[in-house]
Amino acid sequence: MGNQEQFWDKIAGKADDTDKPLGETAQAIVAAAKTVLKPDMTVIDYGCGWGGMTVEIAPSVRTVHAVDISGNMLALAKQKAALREVGNIAFHHGDLSAVPLEPATADALLAFNVLHLVDDSAQTLAQIAALLRPGGLLIASTACIRERWSLMRIATRALMVTRILPHMNRFDIAGYERLIANAGFEIMQSTSLTALPDQLVVARKT
Ligand SMILES: C[S@@+](CC[C@H](N)C(=O)[O-])C[C@H]1O[C@@H](n2cnc3c(N)ncnc32)[C@H](O)[C@@H]1O
Repeated sequence: MGNQEQFWDKIAGKADDTDKPLGETAQAIVAAAKTVLKPDMTVIDYGCGWGGMTVEIAPSVRTVHAVDISGNMLALAKQKAALREVGNIAFHHGDLSAVPLEPATADALLAFNVLHLVDDSAQTLAQIAALLRPGGLLIASTACIRERWSLMRIATRALMVTRILPHMNRFDIAGYERLIANAGFEIMQSTSLTALPDQLVVARKT
């Protein structure tokens, strides 16, 4: 975790992108999330990063609890929320244990580009399931770099071994879906958004 915190703090320190518009893939993720989110929902944005997607989604729900391990990323997200005048986001520094919600009370959890970074993905999925109410939604978009051979797959392996990149889970789509299903979710939608692929899953806690 320290490894992730240092890495993302450094990335945030180099970025001055609080006013940068969302890329195409991020826009597709936000659009898909908005089709299933409702105005009365309490939502967790896990690994919110610079908050680009958080501020797009927050106006469509009641409250967002945005949590990130990187203090510098959270600072960018807070700046972005202030700039856009989005007032229903509570920011929390840390991992999922920093979210101040009772178990089984969140209506939805967003995990955008983060599940490939956690040390123990099965344990993280169990924590996510514990925070969601029965019927609550997991909306997760994750790079599944084991799905096919690519230069990116070879490069990330080399960069991880040399510790230039932090820990990264190398999912294929079937393994990623199995991980989610094994944590007690019914998968409602699973779509490849890019050739990598970035796999968007919408799942309901059973
Ligand atoms: C690739 S960025 C994605 C940011 C944002 N969700 C997006 O898609 O634009 C990954 C983010 O996850 C955060 N992160 C990594 N591991 C984490 C953990 N265990 N708990 C909370 N945040 C974490 C990083 O600090 C970073 O901001």
